Amino acid sequence: MKEIIISPSILSADFMELEKEITAVKNAGVKWIHIDVMDGHFVPNISIGVPVVKSVRKKTDMFLDTHLMIENPEKYIEPFAKAGADLITFHLEASENYGTENLISLVKSFGKKVGISIKPKTKPEELFPYLDKIDLVLVMTVEPGFGGQEFMHDCAMKIPSIKEHSPEDLIIQVDGGINNLTAKVCTSLGANSLVAGSYIYGSDDYEKAILSLK
Ligand code: DX5
Ligand code: ZN
Repeated sequence: MKEIIISPSILSADFMELEKEITAVKNAGVKWIHIDVMDGHFVPNISIGVPVVKSVRKKTDMFLDTHLMIENPEKYIEPFAKAGADLITFHLEASENYGTENLISLVKSFGKKVGISIKPKTKPEELFPYLDKIDLVLVMTVEPGFGGQEFMHDCAMKIPSIKEHSPEDLIIQVDGGINNLTAKVCTSLGANSLVAGSYIYGSDDYEKAILSLK
């Protein structure tokens, strides 16, 4: 069986200790970190921006999994790519103006991996035309905007049909309310990447929390 990719969300980390917080999950064997970018429009919260990604990039060789919860992602793909993001995931619901195909091409033009995310109310079928053109699908299992919310089981039920329509190597990631129990629900349905923020960074033993997700 293929390895499950764990992507700790630094949204729940202590920002005053960000370097330590990132090194701690790396030392626990993790290769990815998840960076939640929020603009206060697409979601009702503001979080991390380009300068933080740039600073993080200087200090770590971990894979920077960048989740853009923003309107008009076309305006910010180049800055995030140049800041050092490795994967840029935009929301399908934010792709109307520029067009989904164009957003995919734009991310790829910077030599980056590309992902598309869907919010809880978006149907999985809407992703089908793009599944063979991208590297990752991100299924939100909470309404995007905040860490620490409760996992929505209905959203995880989208995974099997996405998997059925996906090429073998597509990464299917889930984000929101992931803990040791909900992780198993998602991986048994076909997810192979788990984002976890409060479960890891809210625990007193990051390594133990990470191992319990696998
Ligand atoms: C929510 C973000 C998540 C968040 C997950 O909008 O996209 O990545 O950090 O947090 P937890 O794991 O606490 O639900
Ligand atoms: Zn996220």
